Amino acid sequence: MSDAIRIVKATTHKPKPKDSDLGFGTLFTDHMFVADFQEEKGWYDPRVEPYGPIPLDPAAAVLHYAQAIFDGLKAFRGVDGKVRLFRPQKHVQRMNHSAAQMCIPPLDPELTLRSLVTLVGIERDWVPKTVGTSLYVRPTIIASEAFLGVRPAKSYIYFVILSPVGAYYPEGMAPVKIRVEEKHVRAVEGGLGSAKTGANYAASLMAGEEAKHEGFTQVLWLDGVHRKYIDEVGTMNIMVKIAGEVITPPLGGTILPGVTRDSVLTLLREWGAGVSERQISIDEVVAAHKAGTLDEVFGTGTAAVISPVGELAYKGHRMVVGGGKIGPTTQKLYDAIVGIQYGTAPDTRGWTLEV
Ligand code: COI
Repeated sequence: MSDAIRIVKATTHKPKPKDSDLGFGTLFTDHMFVADFQEEKGWYDPRVEPYGPIPLDPAAAVLHYAQAIFDGLKAFRGVDGKVRLFRPQKHVQRMNHSAAQMCIPPLDPELTLRSLVTLVGIERDWVPKTVGTSLYVRPTIIASEAFLGVRPAKSYIYFVILSPVGAYYPEGMAPVKIRVEEKHVRAVEGGLGSAKTGANYAASLMAGEEAKHEGFTQVLWLDGVHRKYIDEVGTMNIMVKIAGEVITPPLGGTILPGVTRDSVLTLLREWGAGVSERQISIDEVVAAHKAGTLDEVFGTGTAAVISPVGELAYKGHRMVVGGGKIGPTTQKLYDAIVGIQYGTAPDTRGWTLEV
């Protein structure tokens, strides 16, 4: 792909929201990044243009067979006024992992990083200020070829859109109630579970709706074969702290390689805390609760950062976790990550990239 990013500036500008009005994913900035792919040309014409609809043939493969990937990262306005992306290189790397899983041609990592930095740079005034708010960055690739046969498409569109956001869950950092899902599964070994692709989120909708109907925020997914091992929670990675050790399921199968998951594991290891990446059964969680050693349960993800679980419902029984309050490890991890993101704690690991 040619290296030069073409820039077409918007002639009209939307009003910017107040930080206190921000929810998640409803508002979008004035510009977007776009690049095209054709088999014979590779990726070409990288450009920033005014935000708006993307022309798409009704036969476009993405609309029929869901050949698409996305990622999600955030830009923060630090207390020093500087704008920083959190671990953008890791997100670019994950995009290409997802692309490979979905038979989508890889992006050039250097140009992809530049697409994020360039777009956020142009839209820097949209990055909100208050702690807890940020500019959510959504890079996406869709299969655009008009063809109804089932095979990987020969043309694609890469685009990046930006959305000023507040908390993902209206609960914010308040502990959520989660129902252990016994019927539906999110992903199976050998399937798409480790790719950030819309199909995984589509597969989660019915369970999520049923859980909400019963008064829960989300579900805890169990493995697709035995309905035994814990997998993920809602759209997040899951961590449980039992008798002082934080346990999370290993990557390599159905688990999304979360960037917040990686950040949490890195911090815990640096702190010398007990950490283990291994399969953990729901029976082990129930037994720990009975024994009084289920210290904390929390989800990790870019959107919510850390989301404490205050209650787990399984087979009609309700397990209150940590007295329904935010646990000390959950809080310490949240504070550490948010501190780096907003520049109140030093970034000693090169996790942030100033825009
Ligand atoms: C996350 O960032 O935690 C997510 O995966 C949620 C996103 C799909 C809105």
